[in-house]
Amino acid sequence: MEKFVINGKTRLEGEVIINGAKNAAVAILPATLLVNGICTIENLPNISDINIYCDILRTLGVKITKTAPNTVVVDTRDVNYIDAPLDMTSKFRASYYLIGALLGRCKRAVVGMPGGCKLGARPIDQHAKAFECLGAKVDIGQGKIVATTDGLVGNSIYLDIVSVGATINAILASVLAEGTTTIENVAKEPHIVDVANFLNTMGADIHGAGTDIIKINGVKELHGGTYSIVPDQIEAGTFMLAAVATRGDITIKNCITKHLDVLSAKIEEMGAHVEEISGDTLRVWCDKKPKCVNIKTLPYPGFPTDLQSQMGIVLATADGTSIVTESIWESRFQYTAELNKMGAKINAQGNVAFFDGVPELYGRPVSASDLRAGAALIIAGIAANGVTEVSNIEYIDRGYENIEDKFKALGADIKRVTE
Ligand code: UD1
Repeated sequence: MEKFVINGKTRLEGEVIINGAKNAAVAILPATLLVNGICTIENLPNISDINIYCDILRTLGVKITKTAPNTVVVDTRDVNYIDAPLDMTSKFRASYYLIGALLGRCKRAVVGMPGGCKLGARPIDQHAKAFECLGAKVDIGQGKIVATTDGLVGNSIYLDIVSVGATINAILASVLAEGTTTIENVAKEPHIVDVANFLNTMGADIHGAGTDIIKINGVKELHGGTYSIVPDQIEAGTFMLAAVATRGDITIKNCITKHLDVLSAKIEEMGAHVEEISGDTLRVWCDKKPKCVNIKTLPYPGFPTDLQSQMGIVLATADGTSIVTESIWESRFQYTAELNKMGAKINAQGNVAFFDGVPELYGRPVSASDLRAGAALIIAGIAANGVTEVSNIEYIDRGYENIEDKFKALGADIKRVTE
């Protein structure tokens, strides 16, 4: 087991380059199954979720060759479909995209019940609803999902809940379906637009991704091509908040500044500074104690739940009491108990937490409860007085490439040790 040991009280300064978006990559890789050809995927983050995904695709007959540190060539011409290995697919959440992609390509999908970060109940009823609307039969039970069809046919899909995964899965299943599909009440996150852009580059006919209604005209087949994954909005936001939490000064390169508008506005509301240097570079700095602010997590373009815990580190030492309302995941406040061990004063009740700002945090042994909580606890350790040990870091490796090297380059004293 590995852990991070952080010697704290460091003001982070310097530049960081953001990798490709994890949440786009875990959808685009399975989306290549809809292509009968060769795709070159650039800006693919080198993270454990992606490595697992590549291994799963290889079991289906996909040939994947790494041609550069963040580029793979994916050859899907010989997909000899067998059921996806249940033990591998149940390791992480985004394996649910195999259902939409395999239904589209092979008319049958068998996938282990998706695992992943323990953020509370993670139902997939909206995914099933979308597949059924398109003419699939979906059975959920005994640790797996089995979806079959005689042929998918375009239809109108109205999602009851704004869901990133169900929106992408509905797109994947519709691309090769016969006729036209419209999907309403969709999620609009940047990675949804990215998946649609990838598929359109390969010959799909998808309109409206990023708006309220997505329309897909089914096509007969997709061809190969080259696609570069969008920069990771959440990784960029993590470093923006690290700058504020450590009263530091970080220039964030290779991000899409527009995707970060909601966070930039909150950072400025706290009295810290955000300067847009260009469309893909932001500078964030903080020279005094930030003011308390209230936040409520919402689907894009609202405040992302995936930045709630990193923001929580900032609010733990802000001036006054901040109120945070989590409206997406019921278990997303687990990190507050760890932060309280470090001297924070946070009272989490249900989906609301009250953060009474304290003068400073103190290094302690803490444990990551999920990917983003893990990144947040690293930031807490860098800001805190003394030594912090963060365990359960396999969660962090799922979604951040070289996180300790990036923090080290900004001045942090952090090392990975084997327990
Ligand atoms: C994705 C992201 C995750 C992020 C989340 C919300 C990926 C791989 N993961 O997760 O990092 O935290 O979006 O931005 O992209 N729901 C249902 N029924 C469903 C599906 C979802 O009730 O069939 C509910 C969920 O319980 C949750 C809400 O809808 O409360 C949003 O979930 P969803 O957007 O689907 O999240 P994921 O796609 O799993």
